[in-house]
Amino acid sequence: MYSSEEAQRTLKSRYMTPYHVQAQWAEFANLKRIIGEQYKKSGRPIRIFDIGVGTGRIPLLLSKVATWDKIAEYTGIDISEFCLALSNEVASARRMSGKFKVIFFDATKLATKAAEFLKSVRYDLAVCTYFTAGDFRPEQIKLDVNKDGSIVDYDARLLRPNRDFISVFKGAYDLLEDGGKIVIGSIYYDSDFVRKIQERFYEKCGMHVITTSKDEFTATRERFWSERFDTSKARSYLPWVSQNKIDLIDLDDYDFASMVLVSK
Ligand SMILES: C[S@@+](CC[C@H](N)C(=O)[O-])C[C@H]1O[C@@H](n2cnc3c(N)ncnc32)[C@H](O)[C@@H]1O
Repeated sequence: MYSSEEAQRTLKSRYMTPYHVQAQWAEFANLKRIIGEQYKKSGRPIRIFDIGVGTGRIPLLLSKVATWDKIAEYTGIDISEFCLALSNEVASARRMSGKFKVIFFDATKLATKAAEFLKSVRYDLAVCTYFTAGDFRPEQIKLDVNKDGSIVDYDARLLRPNRDFISVFKGAYDLLEDGGKIVIGSIYYDSDFVRKIQERFYEKCGMHVITTSKDEFTATRERFWSERFDTSKARSYLPWVSQNKIDLIDLDDYDFASMVLVSK
């Protein structure tokens, strides 16, 4: 999904809307707080597993502040060669003290046997930042277009729930220590307001939107896909977790993005 230059632009702050930039900072502030809490609770530097680590933006930011001392190990997975190359550069920088490593791995396989090798370590936190949780498109939803440029018909039941989302986060949950947490850093609220901001953003990145207000995700001709969530949908995508172990935290006062915290 991030192989085209247009999609890669969505990771660059100069293309982002102020809503995206501010969601990133609100997410980061909350993430640092949660890392501090887990560190205090466990009484030792913690281990973090990052799903869709991208360009290594989050570990790099963490390494610039004292929060990095509260982290023993930071392992990221990704499936984009472009992102992994940049992440590997970050990982080799001296300031990272050898604590950051990246692995080419498809997050939708986290709940399968292919992920066994990851289980030699138990993590205190599994994080998934900057709207990545909305990236897991069921492959039966095709991104082909009709003659009028609109997305071809698909079965909306494929999002009731999205089984790929469940595989990713159930797999991540199984990698956690008891008392560990999943931090779904930011998800988009499902509203027309947010949809229009997403559309403006992807168009500024040079993409062509193929979805409308009828869809609960925004997709582009360039095969970019991003799902939106309301509270009950976010909760229903975590069916193995008791409801009292799920918290949603608003990242702003205008219903753009929220963080989902799952405690094990
Ligand atoms: C929106 S970017 C976020 C990057 C990073 N987390 C950040 O906050 O800057 C999403 C990242 O998730 C990765 N990704 C998407 N689907 C994935 C999958 N199935 N398995 C692993 N990584 C995936 C993409 O390649 C991309 O690097």
